[in-house]
Amino acid sequence: MTEPTFGALVGEVRRRRRESFDDGSALPASALNLAVLRRVDSTNDLARRIRRELAVDDITVSASAMLAFEQTAGRGRQGRRWLSPPGRGVYATLVTRLAAEERLPVLPLAVGAALADAIDPHLLRPCLLKWPNDLVVGGRKVGGVLVESAVREGSPPDLIVGFGVNWGQRREELPVAEATSLLLEGAKVTLPELAWELVQAVAAELARDEPRAITVERWLARSVHRTGDRLVCRQPGEGKELVGRFLGLTPQGLLRLEVDGREEVLLTAEVGDA
Ligand code: BTN
Repeated sequence: MTEPTFGALVGEVRRRRRESFDDGSALPASALNLAVLRRVDSTNDLARRIRRELAVDDITVSASAMLAFEQTAGRGRQGRRWLSPPGRGVYATLVTRLAAEERLPVLPLAVGAALADAIDPHLLRPCLLKWPNDLVVGGRKVGGVLVESAVREGSPPDLIVGFGVNWGQRREELPVAEATSLLLEGAKVTLPELAWELVQAVAAELARDEPRAITVERWLARSVHRTGDRLVCRQPGEGKELVGRFLGLTPQGLLRLEVDGREEVLLTAEVGDA
């Protein structure tokens, strides 16, 4: 696979966008303002800054996507870093309001499921989900989702939906042994093609009006966890570790765990196999 360049990323995304206007398909991603950036600290942080600046003049941010070739301070969940070297992954953030606000609690799961559906056709083995929204191939993490919301009094929250997918890292370029990239998993897709497909998939997901129960079912269909699996769940801040059996998810997408014969419901945690 040839090394992707920033120019190729810009060119391909523009071409795909134009085509979707020309053929009348009016894809959800085509309706977004779209910026492709050579280098940024973090697309989520950029989205927050833009939103904050506009708010000074009481201007709301219109639906937008930011796609970066490189991030210098990419952020992961729970304060971790997200390594984002140039031309090695898809680093993107969409800012929008939800078409159906009641979907808010399951949104991180929905975005994970949409990304897994979009990645899957490029792979020989399935792209699965580890709760809440790690994208996993062959037991190794290939991507993740960072949803943040910015509340404004009297109006629905602006959602900042960031995602990162490892595309072309070689084994030695990955931060941990439990990570992988799509090229390592045999995918043939180019970075610009993948970037457009993923932005498109997430834009379509955010425009969707789907009952929460269906989103939870879609997520469960791609879950790495099976009912009865023993999981170890580390809860942030508390340093508390819970070991129990996976019981499924609540209708809001929270994790149900059986611990010593009683059910615990977890809002957030780092989940691993026990
Ligand atoms: C995770 O920890 O699994 C979530 C990773 C999310 C990374 C993406 S890359 C684009 C966006 N900008 C960031 O700084 N983080 C998210």
